[in-house]
Amino acid sequence: MAYSEEIQKRRTFAIVSHPDAGKTTLTEKLLLFGGAIHVAGAVKSNKIRKTATSDWMDIEKQRGISVATSVMAFDYSGHKINILDTPGHQDFAEDTFRTLTAVDSVIIVVDIAKGVEAQTRKLMEVCRMRKTPVIVFVNKLDRDGKDPFDLLDEIEEELKIKVRPLSWPIDMGQRFRGVYNIYEAKLDLYTPSKQYVTESIVFEDILSPELEEHIGDTLSARLRADLELIEGVYPAFDVKTYLEGDTAPVFFGSALNNFGVKELLDCFLRIAPSPRPVKALERVVEPEEDGFSGFVFKIHANMDPNHRSCIAFVKICSGRFERNANYKHVRFNRLMRFSSPTAFMAQKKETVDEAFAGDIVGLPDTGNFKIGDTLTSGEELHFKGLPSFSPEMFKYIENADPMKSKQLNKGIEQLMDEGVAQLFTNQFNGRKIIGTVGQLQFEVIQYRLLHEYGAQCKWETVSLHKACWIESGNSAVMDNFKRRKAQYMAVDKEGRDVYLADSAYVLTMAQQDFPEIKFHFSSEF
Ligand code: G4P
Repeated sequence: MAYSEEIQKRRTFAIVSHPDAGKTTLTEKLLLFGGAIHVAGAVKSNKIRKTATSDWMDIEKQRGISVATSVMAFDYSGHKINILDTPGHQDFAEDTFRTLTAVDSVIIVVDIAKGVEAQTRKLMEVCRMRKTPVIVFVNKLDRDGKDPFDLLDEIEEELKIKVRPLSWPIDMGQRFRGVYNIYEAKLDLYTPSKQYVTESIVFEDILSPELEEHIGDTLSARLRADLELIEGVYPAFDVKTYLEGDTAPVFFGSALNNFGVKELLDCFLRIAPSPRPVKALERVVEPEEDGFSGFVFKIHANMDPNHRSCIAFVKICSGRFERNANYKHVRFNRLMRFSSPTAFMAQKKETVDEAFAGDIVGLPDTGNFKIGDTLTSGEELHFKGLPSFSPEMFKYIENADPMKSKQLNKGIEQLMDEGVAQLFTNQFNGRKIIGTVGQLQFEVIQYRLLHEYGAQCKWETVSLHKACWIESGNSAVMDNFKRRKAQYMAVDKEGRDVYLADSAYVLTMAQQDFPEIKFHFSSEF
């Protein structure tokens, strides 16, 4: 329990959203509060421009600086805050899912006009699987949007989580007057030209006529009625249900106008969890244990082909990490030392001597790590695997240069270890199939195979609908299924059986014909 104080003050989280809801803007405002950056626009540069959807070269250039912004750490109000950045582009969704395994809580940004969008649903699924505490920030109140009550219903229904508003908007769009902060019982006023909280008034009693003085009769009456309804409909906020991942507190504001952001941050610091226990296969690991342990959740390749080194991002699960100490690489059963581990303060990357549970350290690597690898002070621990989801797109990968088949295989293996995409090997004909979330990943793979491994690949269309990880307690049924579907059976990288269904119809039929087989759409079940 030696590091208790250090660990308790850490808050490691990610901000996630459907593209364009305001994740980057909110991140930037939080960094401004923490004094980690001083000018607006500093974070923007990490974002993959939306116009560049299919231009990998451009994305590569833009990604060049993203190592530094993968983790943004800063001190604020006695806390050490670690924000883990997630890629803005939908095609890199798997990266985001993996990053979510390294955080202790999440802030989801929802656009008041657009409501819950596809990507948000998927991200929430991951949070639900891991029971990650979630706060929702409804953004862009300076624009017209949905009725807040309707939006809350939509969030509950679509994200399958109970909500509890902790602030409430007073009108929106051009008529937006501010929010009533239920959590702190204060009125935060907004003046469009000022674009930040112009005044905060604490209200002992919302019935006080002082309210009318600030927002007029009509809005006062409506606010009181809304608050009454909220108290009637939603149970009182209970931090425990938030920490258990059952209830999401909801805040309203405008990230662009820096409105409601500080309030969000202050409440977040109060209620969000410090590093939580992490499940390993062997046992549950408590953050405050003396022994160090951590796992690799992300590998960032160096884009310079002359230096094929990577940075492995390690989330520290317990104890203290020290520079130059010997740690066990569990999969290799070998001790390793790291002389230049990096931490990420604000947007700078610097060598660190020590780091604690909750922190992320970057370890320069030349191919020793793959996603999910565990490092410890000596104990044999395996942190639970990170889920793979069924890809959306599939293609056969073929060798386009017969002289370079070795390089191609090595390249494919290493890129898959990095988690760039998923590899399935057909059990029937041995052909390799790459599964991705979006077209862009195929371009990334082709480009990197050529530039980093000197190998050329070509893609061949294969029409597949979903990858399903299958299991059954009845091995005879399983054997029968595999025989019947022989052409569509594959193994994933870990050697698990995967059924590649070629259409939604065929999949439904298979589920009907084989009720004793369970079909999973993610690899962690
Ligand atoms: P993302 O990371 O979730 O993809 O979203 P991002 O923060 O980049 O925001 C997307 C767009 O929404 C940006 O405009 C941003 O300025 C705008 N935005 C963010 N918060 C608010 C808000 O509270 N109110 C309003 N009205 N707009 C907001 P853009 O035109 O795409 O980019 P830019 O030209 O402003 O950089």
